[in-house]
Amino acid sequence: MILNTELEYKGDLFPSNIIDYKKDVDVLHFKTANNVILQLTVLRDSVLRFRYSTVGKFNKDFSYAIDEDASRGFNHLEITEDDEKYIVTTAKLICHVYKVDLRTSILDAKDGTIICQDELGFHWEESYELGGDIVKMSKVSQTGESYYGLGDKPEHVNLKGKRFENWATDSYAFGKNTDPIYKAIPFYTGLHNNKSYGIFFDNTFRTYFDFCQERRNVTSFWASGGEMNYYFFYGPNMQDVVVSYTDLTGTPELPPLWALGYHQCKWSYYPESQVKEITQKFRDLKIPCDAIYLDIDYMEGFRCFTWSKEYFPEPKRMVKELADDGFKTVVIIDPGIKIDMEYDVFREGLEKDYFCKRADGPYMKGKVWPGECYFPDYTRPEVREWWAGLFKELVSEIGVKGVWNDMNEPAVMDVPGKSFPPDVRHDYDGNPCSHQKAHNIYGMQMARATYHGLKRFNYPKRPFVITRSAYSGTQRYTSTWMGDNVATWEHLQIANIQAQRLALSGFSFAGSDIGGFAEQPNGELYARWIQLGVFHPFCRTHSSGDHGEQEPWTFGTEITNVVRKFIELRYQLLPYLYTTFYQYHQNNVPMLKSLVLFDQEDIQTHYRTDEFIFGNQMLACPINEPNSKGRRMYIPRGEWYNYWTNDIVSGGKEMWVDADLDEMPLFVKAGAVIPKYPVQQYVGEKDIDQLTLDVYFKDGKEDSQIFEDANDGYDYTKGRYSLKKFNLAGNSDKLIIRIHKTGQFYTSYDTYKINFIGLPFEVKSIKVDNEYVDFNDVQFENNTLVVSKEFTNLQLKAD
Ligand code: GLC
Repeated sequence: MILNTELEYKGDLFPSNIIDYKKDVDVLHFKTANNVILQLTVLRDSVLRFRYSTVGKFNKDFSYAIDEDASRGFNHLEITEDDEKYIVTTAKLICHVYKVDLRTSILDAKDGTIICQDELGFHWEESYELGGDIVKMSKVSQTGESYYGLGDKPEHVNLKGKRFENWATDSYAFGKNTDPIYKAIPFYTGLHNNKSYGIFFDNTFRTYFDFCQERRNVTSFWASGGEMNYYFFYGPNMQDVVVSYTDLTGTPELPPLWALGYHQCKWSYYPESQVKEITQKFRDLKIPCDAIYLDIDYMEGFRCFTWSKEYFPEPKRMVKELADDGFKTVVIIDPGIKIDMEYDVFREGLEKDYFCKRADGPYMKGKVWPGECYFPDYTRPEVREWWAGLFKELVSEIGVKGVWNDMNEPAVMDVPGKSFPPDVRHDYDGNPCSHQKAHNIYGMQMARATYHGLKRFNYPKRPFVITRSAYSGTQRYTSTWMGDNVATWEHLQIANIQAQRLALSGFSFAGSDIGGFAEQPNGELYARWIQLGVFHPFCRTHSSGDHGEQEPWTFGTEITNVVRKFIELRYQLLPYLYTTFYQYHQNNVPMLKSLVLFDQEDIQTHYRTDEFIFGNQMLACPINEPNSKGRRMYIPRGEWYNYWTNDIVSGGKEMWVDADLDEMPLFVKAGAVIPKYPVQQYVGEKDIDQLTLDVYFKDGKEDSQIFEDANDGYDYTKGRYSLKKFNLAGNSDKLIIRIHKTGQFYTSYDTYKINFIGLPFEVKSIKVDNEYVDFNDVQFENNTLVVSKEFTNLQLKAD
């Protein structure tokens, strides 16, 4: 090891030797001779927090990111020391803290291998300009290490060799490698030697991450202010790392099931007659759709919480008529409040002093869609409360079901930096600060206030919010989309990467503007994009509208048929998708999995970007190029059924997969039990009188789950849900399915229709709950049967 004190590195300052150590239950304090403190908190056996101060004391500990229900507690904690270092041991980790310079190393407690090791470790630079320290951390990059995460970056899934900045930025028509864009999610995972760990740098200032770009074997992160405050999560499975980070920063409640349906949006549908024309066309053409969006033109002069009298003279009637036809109305609400003394929201905000101010007192004035605006300081609890209250009329009276928060980076037009200047003041929940600290969480706090408003006035139904800007933890309140993309093939690929990356960063409920926001797709691109979009947790077509139409029927009958086929597939898969959402909500499991997350042991997966796992058991891969009849793709290890042909393939290899325009490479894991609904034009259109289960035979074992509840409301939190675990075990002459059920929810149907796919034997006998049954009683034909949903054990045998 080189000693930091021997280094002359830029103008940086380093901790000196440790002179004091004390332990306070789960918090360890190490103090150096030059007044640096490291506060090391053991949150769990595999989760440590590192917090550094350069002035001998800490400011109040406050974070918007951390979920108050995050798990805490460990099985083992022991601290010992030798001449060189302190040794902190938990059931999973060993952390060395070096006495000479406060550097740390983290090792796997099981086998002593190094997981993550400080290079220069913590250091800092005094910044007279910013007034504070630029806090820095550098780590040794281990041989063959790869990096993943960081939210919405439109980059390769693997971040190695790249440098990034986190500063929420309005990025109209961003491109591959544009950085930063709308979100700031300072969390990444590292993977080397089949061991994965994660780092969440909970610092809301402008942060930077360098993954071996500046120096080959060094990964570093730093911030233009605030504290060096990071959480370390150990796997060694990458999924466990993502789960731990998501546990710490939270997951959303279950969304209403309709929110997982298809959504249609454009800038803008108006007047009312156009909205009705669009919704009618969905029903006429039998293309399922659950939500219709109103962009900024529904308002009176872009004043939030108003309606244009000309275009929407009777919003309550319209919203009700749409609802009667199965459409939920979602409206846009931006943060900019038009300066206009005749406008009550503005007047009230002014009277109550709720708008952001510049350092010396004037209001923060900026131009957005309505012209000059002031902006609520959502970092103040009373302002959030006020904002939530503003939704009363929209939600309780008019019946709006969802709210779309846009421009909340916050975006400001015609100014350098496209946002507030750094001196703007924020309350930051009683920790007053400048915009440099509050910028990255501004959008999050707006979405949070919006969520509380919707929840209050929509109760006992569930709220639905979508936001453009986000910081870590925002996923607790809202879904998100990737902002203003472009109608190009490259953007289809970017959308795929962004959705995977967001899921890897704790934010699963995300999707892109299908077809592209700027410019116009041709029919082929639109169809291929719908194919990808139906496998994203949030599924919405949106376009800027300045180039004409972008609806499922815009591109002629052939394309309309492809689009319908895939939207129908999404509606059939709703119970599977809903179960996936439940696993995200309940167990923090990401809803999409990049192949590396699915099988990190297989090195082939470390640089794969196009293929991903939808839920736990479906493998999807979009067609990214025009005129394709299929593509080469990597099939991860294991046995997979081609969804369209039911042919079985063994993975662990790259192969060609056919996919004409009306198909997309899609596979199901052997052993999976996939629940399906009938096609509906909107959620709740039909009473589900039977649930279809597609059972894919496996020679071996596989577990699947199905979660069901009322699809809205909060009864599931009181035990009124049904969670079924299917354990499948098959061999050459037998297939057994065992079901284990928890929860108390009675589904509307009594029977399952089970389709057995890939059975290697002819079924000669069937046992339900250990009794032989007559084939007629279960309507057994062509490997399909109908059975009571109450069964707990089903056996098909070759004799
Ligand atoms: C922004 C949004 C876009 C929206 C437009 C008008 O560009 O990203 O989705 O349609 O503003 O509100």
